[in-house]
Amino acid sequence: MNNLFIVANWKSNKTVSEAKNWLDEFKISENLGEKEIIICPPFTLLGFLAEEITKGDLPIKLGAQDVSAFEGGAHTGEVKAEELKEFAQYVIIGHSERRKNFHEDDSLLAQKVSMSLSSNLTPIFCVSSPDMFIPQGVSLVAYEPLSAIGTGNADNPENADGVAAQIKETNKIVSAVLYGGSVTPENVKSFTEMENIDGVLVGGASLNASSFSNIVKNA
Ligand code: PGA
Repeated sequence: MNNLFIVANWKSNKTVSEAKNWLDEFKISENLGEKEIIICPPFTLLGFLAEEITKGDLPIKLGAQDVSAFEGGAHTGEVKAEELKEFAQYVIIGHSERRKNFHEDDSLLAQKVSMSLSSNLTPIFCVSSPDMFIPQGVSLVAYEPLSAIGTGNADNPENADGVAAQIKETNKIVSAVLYGGSVTPENVKSFTEMENIDGVLVGGASLNASSFSNIVKNA
């Protein structure tokens, strides 16, 4: 059976004590089945969450929200793939906020993908339309239309399904496409029940533990 990926993108949110409270409140449904829960916190929480997940034997995987495009060395402020791999299995690359606010272009993103793959980190590669460049080696894509991110204005599931189908059709190595943009406990099922959608990438609604628990439950 195919995995259903439920990914939390915490963006630039949460201190250690806030993350601890979130974990205390997060309720995992008894039977997760094929659902795979991935939390992508700020870098500063990866070590803490990795320890808590091991201690509590929690069915949660970790992802980073970005990765350096370079090998290690003189790149102040960057975190390289090999360092992330100690804590995370996944990494979000090409989120529209990074493309827009940090001017990340196709060639930089392709370098980030390549660095990730060589450290066995799986990129969750974000695009806002089906015709956007997807670097070689990417198998997991998140479709996030700009008008849906943080607006409360989610895409229509049939449209998102069509885009997911198109992405898979034009990129044969892409095996899973997630939908992202204003996913809530109420609308999550309308996306995950679509034939070509293999999960969701959740921003705002993942910050609250009970709303994210309900997204996992309802997905
Ligand atoms: P949102 O964010 O769920 O708050 O719309 C999604 C994202 O930016 O990944």
